[in-house]
Amino acid sequence: MTTKVKKAVFPVGGLGTRFLPATKAMPKEMMPVVDKPLIHYAVEEAVAAGIEEFIFVTGRGKSAIEDHFDHSYELRDELAARNKTVEIAELDAWLPPAGAVAYTRQQVPKGLGHAVWCARNLVGDAPFAVLLADDLVLTDKPCLAQMVEAHIETGGNLVAVMDVPREHTGRYGVLDPGETRGRLVEVRGLVEKPAPAEAPSTLSVIGRYILQPEVFGHLESQVPGAGGEIQLTDALARMIGGDPFHGFRYDGKRFDCGDKVGFIQANIAFALARDDLRGGVSAYLKSLDLGA
Ligand code: UTP
Repeated sequence: MTTKVKKAVFPVGGLGTRFLPATKAMPKEMMPVVDKPLIHYAVEEAVAAGIEEFIFVTGRGKSAIEDHFDHSYELRDELAARNKTVEIAELDAWLPPAGAVAYTRQQVPKGLGHAVWCARNLVGDAPFAVLLADDLVLTDKPCLAQMVEAHIETGGNLVAVMDVPREHTGRYGVLDPGETRGRLVEVRGLVEKPAPAEAPSTLSVIGRYILQPEVFGHLESQVPGAGGEIQLTDALARMIGGDPFHGFRYDGKRFDCGDKVGFIQANIAFALARDDLRGGVSAYLKSLDLGA
């Protein structure tokens, strides 16, 4: 029987250099899409997938994330003094239960694989989810909930995948795909950031994973890969041939919010998806004279 996925790891220890100077004193994961920080969307998605324990791998300058998921006496008092009861209820509604959130520090940002490895003692010996907050998926049924449902059938390791233009394979972990069954694709191989000519396919991993705890053993060696970083993909590649390993073609539109164009697109798409903002935003977009 497949073990239920109860824990999620949120690696938030990266430097966010592509967004400097915004990320000099503010974590990239706190940048808002419309009116919610990226990390808030990720935690909401985990909650919707039935996750009960939230493990953040943070780093220097990331304390705003801890404050965000904490009780704020000053703000509550101020809101209460102004009779803003709706706002208080809204704040309370999404606060994780006491003891459900744990933080550990990645002292040096050595790469995503290293960040996940830093969570090993908090995760323990059960399958767990990993969510990268800068990948945002706009969909009716949250991406991780779709994956948790699929994982009940597949067990093993499951990674969210999407087809990317071949010229972009150098930005992703890319699958050597085996058999396809509905949304599931058997993983025969995985390569981190291959050049377009060398990529085994265009099917690429995005920031949602359900992993077996054996991955920690494969990360132990701490061997740097592409870009001199300890890559999660390299450890995952070493797990192929063991437990079942599938790519999952999720339903939804993914935005790479670690990239400026992707971040701007996400703001527009998420605003257009909201009843209170659609009118104003679409009127503005229509008014733009974009030339040819
Ligand atoms: P990115 O690859 O986008 O790196 O990380 P980054 O450092 O955040 O941003 P750039 O490339 O310098 O602009 C994807 C996710 O993995 C986390 C990041 O915080 C982000 O949520 N990460 C990355 C870590 O936790 N530790 C690392 O060493 C690297």
